[in-house]
Amino acid sequence: MVNQLGFASGPDRHCLASSRFAALVNATYLIMTPAVVPDLDIDTNRVRLNRYRHVLHETMRVFAGWLPRIARFELKCEAGRTIWENSLHVNALYLRLREIQSPAFQAPADPALLRLTAELIHAPDEQGLARAYYGVVAPSLIAALENHETATFPNSDLPSVRALRHILLDLRAEQERVRPLLAEAEEAGRVTARAHTWENHITRLLAAAGGIAGEEKRGDDPAACPAGLEFTPPREAARDERFTTLGADLAAMPAEDEHAAHTEEEFERYSTEVLAAETVAVVIYHVRGMPWEFQLDAARHLYDEIRHALMGYEWMRRRGKDPFRSPQYTHILKWRCQFPPAVQYCLLTMGNEVHAFPYRHRRVEAHQRAGDRLSEQFVRYDIADETQHVRFGHRWLPELLKQSGDPRGVEEFTADCLRVWDQEYRTGRLTLNVE
Ligand SMILES: [Fe+2]
Ligand SMILES: [Fe+2]
Repeated sequence: MVNQLGFASGPDRHCLASSRFAALVNATYLIMTPAVVPDLDIDTNRVRLNRYRHVLHETMRVFAGWLPRIARFELKCEAGRTIWENSLHVNALYLRLREIQSPAFQAPADPALLRLTAELIHAPDEQGLARAYYGVVAPSLIAALENHETATFPNSDLPSVRALRHILLDLRAEQERVRPLLAEAEEAGRVTARAHTWENHITRLLAAAGGIAGEEKRGDDPAACPAGLEFTPPREAARDERFTTLGADLAAMPAEDEHAAHTEEEFERYSTEVLAAETVAVVIYHVRGMPWEFQLDAARHLYDEIRHALMGYEWMRRRGKDPFRSPQYTHILKWRCQFPPAVQYCLLTMGNEVHAFPYRHRRVEAHQRAGDRLSEQFVRYDIADETQHVRFGHRWLPELLKQSGDPRGVEEFTADCLRVWDQEYRTGRLTLNVE
């Protein structure tokens, strides 16, 4: 008899060595020599890992640049998740690459791949971008990782194999989530001819690069695509047609002792935290040359804010309210975008985020008193995330200042930003000085 764990019991217990599990044990621990020596040598291995890292890393910035201008809500959330998950994949590959090449971050020596990743951002519209990345680039990356996983040395290169397997898990799940979004857009007639032309162009660029791994027979370099548009960094936040109110007076909120009315507004405000994600995206897009760990922290920060918005959506839907009817306050992003990236990051982390804690703790107590477990849990998770965001602000503002060449010390710089925040954000008088 063999139990659920595969261990022999009863009269069979001495027969384990001859059981069907022996072959499995032998294969796993290579006691039986595999018939074929894997054909992926270590030099090709690191070249390919570097290509995957490059593609995942560059697309973080592409999606960061696009995030504010993606209007379709579900696609915006997915783009945010892609930025965060790609950052985790880049990190996993970086940790492996630094063991087998120096420096760990290197541009691939393949002009065709560099052209592919450089052109992605010039998509004509959000569906063109989504179809090019999720429909063309990501499937090729998945195929490359699947092949790599089995082509490399299973024991000698186990750290790579493990990283690739975990990345594959996320990339396949992403495909499952995004496929219906793309199909729905197509069915609803939101996919333009330009988007289709762009998708074909990216397919040809990928073929010219020999696929993401670079090992397929290469196609010709395609000519410039007339459907592509010169990318201009966004200064405004787009929302789809389901949102009925894009702006509203930020100061109007019921008093906290009007518990039910205040709580409703509290979670309606959560649903608009996409704006914070969009600001972090703008910062990620504009800031080049910051340490990798900054990009990793910022990607997490960005997707946390999408999660906070989704928390607001969940809360409202559970109470039969339509989150698409909540005001979007899109003028806030426009206001922040007129400042340099370091100022935007400071306004968010040292303004909004540092100052939210006394209020959030009062809300936890109010929800506990009201016996409202859902609201209490949501706010406590939010506090945990926001604590990290403030930590990110303290960690990275000095670096951002150094990078931007601002001569002010962090304290003086923060005080100057907070003056603007107090006078303009807190009062709701969001002056737009630059158009
Ligand atoms: Fe938040
Ligand atoms: Fe935050």
